[in-house]
Amino acid sequence: MTQNFKAIVIDNQNEKFSRAIKDLKTSDLKDGNVLVKVDYSSLNFKDALILNNGGKIVRKFPFVPGIDFSGTVETSEDQKFKKGDRVILTGFRVGEAYFGGFSQYAKVNSEFLVKAPEKLSNKHSMMLGTAGLTALLCSFAIKAKEELLLGSKVKDVLVTGATGGVGSIAVMVLTKMGYNVHAVTGKQDKKDYLTQLGAKNILDRKEFSGESKLLEKGVWDGVVDTVGGESLTKILAQTNPNGIVAACGNAGGIKINTNVMPFIIRGVKLWGIDSSATSAKRKEFIWNEAVKLIDFKKVEELTNELSLDDLLNTFPSMLKGSTSGRYIVNPNK
Ligand SMILES: NC(=O)c1ccc[n+]([C@@H]2O[C@H](COP(=O)([O-])OP(=O)(O)OC[C@H]3O[C@@H](n4cnc5c(N)ncnc54)[C@H](OP(=O)(O)O)[C@@H]3O)[C@@H](O)[C@H]2O)c1
Repeated sequence: MTQNFKAIVIDNQNEKFSRAIKDLKTSDLKDGNVLVKVDYSSLNFKDALILNNGGKIVRKFPFVPGIDFSGTVETSEDQKFKKGDRVILTGFRVGEAYFGGFSQYAKVNSEFLVKAPEKLSNKHSMMLGTAGLTALLCSFAIKAKEELLLGSKVKDVLVTGATGGVGSIAVMVLTKMGYNVHAVTGKQDKKDYLTQLGAKNILDRKEFSGESKLLEKGVWDGVVDTVGGESLTKILAQTNPNGIVAACGNAGGIKINTNVMPFIIRGVKLWGIDSSATSAKRKEFIWNEAVKLIDFKKVEELTNELSLDDLLNTFPSMLKGSTSGRYIVNPNK
């Protein structure tokens, strides 16, 4: 049965970009084999780029953005899912090449979906969303120094872009893993916020700008870097022998001007994170770990709930770097 519903639709006709809340029908959803009633989506940096002007990411218009969502299966052509199943979607180019989650309904390929763990509500999974999943993937990359690589214990871990979505959750998770977290931020008024998340030490973003030497004094056993650019160059020069730098973001730039010394003299490992294409099996593992590692009371405090309307007013602040914490989107609000 065809349902009417609301969604954010971006368009780019005659090079004139537009975004609006529109009425659609479930028959407008052409991709995928599982129809999901969306309970929550979330605002991530990539969503903000796409809402702004397509971000050179979306190529077909009109288009429904939203790179993640949680919801309940309405109909499924794959017997792996049945009506009523609670599911989580992150990445796999949904919200980039396939219609996404800023919508009351979404239809996607069953292989992209993960069944939500029993103890993780649809609201909580999107409080983490793509940002939280990425923070967890980065944190497990750092933990690999102790386990997979059988290196020494991780002690000091740096998190850049610490007040952002990925950064905030990374500070929490790494603290829970037992590490001393050093948080880098450009927002001097957010020191208390970061301390409450568990950060032991707050550093000014300015300390990570400018030229760096081939090698500097090694201080970090692990790094979650959401910023890229000049700061990543400096971080690599400051990482301890066999330290792991999990690089996931480019909020500060895409170019790194590094050299081989950190890699061949100190065995530093630069571990790239692409949460979008991470297998559904790995995503399922991470969502189950989230239940154990995340203090959802704390995440609730750093989360703002937006309607589709609010979302259209909020995304520009994220592009300016002036948001903090997480923003969930309730399309039914
Ligand atoms: N690879 C993946 O799978 C993946 C997944 C999710 C996100 N990401 C990427 O990770 C990054 C963070 O995502 P997010 O959702 O956490 O975004 P966000 O909430 O906007 O956080 C980004 C943070 O970076 C800092 N920042 C902003 N502009 C900066 C600049 N010019 N120079 C240095 N720092 C700056 C700010 O933190 P402070 O003010 O505290 O410094 C800001 O809050 C983005 O680049 C995003 O595309 C990648």
